[in-house]
Formats: sequence, structure tokens, C-alpha cells
Amino acid sequence: MTEKDFLPAPYQHFSDGGKVTWKAPSNIALVKYWGKLADQIPANPSISFTLDACATTTTVSYQKKESNTDGLSFDLLFEGKPKEDFKPKIETFFNRIVGYVPFLKEYDFTIETSNSFPHSSGIASSASGMAALSLCLMDIEKQLTPNMDDQFFKKKASFLARLGSGSACRSIEGDLIQWGEHSKIPNSSNFYGIKYPFEVNPVFKNYHDTILLVHKGQKQVSSTVGHDLMHGHPYAENRFQQAHENLHKLKSILAEGDLENFIKIVESEALTLHTMMMTSMPYFILMKPDTLEIINKIWEYRKESKVPICFTLDAGANVHVLYPESVKEKAIQFIQNELVVHCEKGHYICDRIGIGAKKIMDKK
Ligand code: PMV
Repeated sequence: MTEKDFLPAPYQHFSDGGKVTWKAPSNIALVKYWGKLADQIPANPSISFTLDACATTTTVSYQKKESNTDGLSFDLLFEGKPKEDFKPKIETFFNRIVGYVPFLKEYDFTIETSNSFPHSSGIASSASGMAALSLCLMDIEKQLTPNMDDQFFKKKASFLARLGSGSACRSIEGDLIQWGEHSKIPNSSNFYGIKYPFEVNPVFKNYHDTILLVHKGQKQVSSTVGHDLMHGHPYAENRFQQAHENLHKLKSILAEGDLENFIKIVESEALTLHTMMMTSMPYFILMKPDTLEIINKIWEYRKESKVPICFTLDAGANVHVLYPESVKEKAIQFIQNELVVHCEKGHYICDRIGIGAKKIMDKK
């Protein structure tokens, strides 16, 4: 599908207004997206586990505009309170997508959003937030275009979410989502995420992700700036090539449940992401001393115990500890005994692989 396929046919009927609510999860990349072209087109393909507990719930209320003004009109509430500093991001997003969802000009909107994870935990809410908002918008569009099918609904929600925050396009469905064109993955697209189309061994079905909150403050360098620094980066081309190769290698690893090689790719991807940051110009470091302490302890523990536990990192200092269901007790014990001391105020979040976003029905 191309971008043009997401332009709607003229709407069949306009309602006066209504209200929709969606809950969308966060996701954690195994092969990382870092570097982009115009319009949030990724410089390389990526794949992620959709999460379950870390999620954003968004309600969009819409009311037909009284006057015939052409601009966009919306209010934003975050955890029940007006949030002016989030508005520019939403405004940019709406301006980017209005050609694809032209009903945005017809209504006054109120967007109410809240996260399941604590405010300022250092966990990015842009993926779950943009996914939940996009699903609400698609729900409204579906009411204006009643014969829209479910496949298209999800694809366009992912397409819109990508235009809000790239990785958000991987937060619509579960449980393994791939985004970005790859020569060996049929139907892969730069425009939206797809469900991973190949065999996945049951060992990955109930995977756990315990998120260690090492540093809850704001990052010194945003993802937007980080992506941008991949332009002209001396190692960029090799890195993009490596992501293609790692995705290809994952095919047999995921099918066979080959945890040893899974761990090698996932940890290498995390460290490569941070290496790109450290070798950008200007260079920067998002890991903290505790991030490194945790990584070293995981390596030591894995070597001694043979428990297949590994880490990955986002664009921040927090550590995602990944492990299969079969070693859950041992892993939690190790995390509590050895790793929690490295978390800010001892805080961590127990999450796991999830099945994707869901609609929340109005309680009437
Ligand atoms: O979606 P963005 O622009 O916030 O970029 C996210 C990039 C990483 O989280 C570091 C990697 C990824 O693939 O999710």
C-alpha cells in the first residue's frame, strides 16, 4: 500500500459528535529503529515486543463546530488537568495527518489522556500515547465510513501513529510487530507496522519485561534530536545494514526458540543503539553508572546460573530485563536481590509481552 491508499473517500455522513476511548500499550524494540528520513520514514527496519502493563488510555470527545472555521480546534487534559505543554506536539501531529483524516477540521475535540505508569518514570509515553490517539481518530473515521474493514482500520491507525512518533506504529497490535521495508519479509512497509509473519516458538509467547527505572528524570537529548544525528553519522550506513541482517537472523532464532542467539542479537542491538549516540556529533551518553552496573550483573548471573535472562535499552538509562516464563521465579528473585538497588527509589515495573490495543466501552 502507498500513502495515497490512506486518503479517505468523501465521508458518507457526519454525526454531530460523540466520544471514543482506546487503551494502547507501549512496546520495546528488539532490533532498534534509530535514524529517519522525512515524514517519519525509518532509515532501517525494526521489530518489537508489544507490552501489556505500560499503556496509555485516551478519550476523544468531538462536537460539530458551530462556525465554519477551517482551523484545528482541540483541548488537552493529561491525568484530568489541562496540559498546555503537550499541545504543540499534538498540533504538529494533527497538521501532519489532517490530509488523511480531514474530519479533523469539522469538529471541536477534547482529548483526555492518562498513563498506567507513573508520571516522569523516564518511560516514553509517546508510543502508547500516539497509538491510543490514532485509534480514537480511526474509530471516529469508521463511524463516518461504516463499511471500513478491520484490517484497514488497524493499518491506518498504525500509519497515523507513525506520523506522531515512529515507534508508535508498533503499538497497535501484538505480540511481535515489525516495521520498515525488508527484502525478506513479505508485506513489510515503511508506512505501518505488521504482525510478524513468520513462525514464533512458544518460548517467546509469554516473555517478561521487567523495567528497571534507573533514572526517572527527563533525558538530556530527545529521540528527535538523536534520530537527526544519524544524518551524516560516520557509521550510519553500516548500522542500517546491520539492522537488516539482524532481522533476517532473527527468523530462524524466533522459529527455533534459540535463546542463546536471541540474547546475542538483542543485547548487541541495545549497545549498538547507545554506540550510535556516543559516536554522533555532538556525542552524548544516556546510560548512567547504574545502567552499566545492571548490565554487568546480568552478564555475571547468566554465566553462573545459565538462566537465559538478558537486557535491552531504550533511548534512556532504564534497563528492560527480558526473560521467558519458565525462569520467572529465578529471574524475579535475582532482580530483587541484585538489581533493584540500582533503581531510583527502588522502583521497577513488571511488564510482559501483550496482545495490543483495545477499545474501552463507555460505562452507561
Ligand atoms: O519513536 P521514537 O521517535 O521516539 O524513536 C524511538 C527509538 C527507540 O525507542 C530508541 C528504538 C525503537 O525502535 O523503539
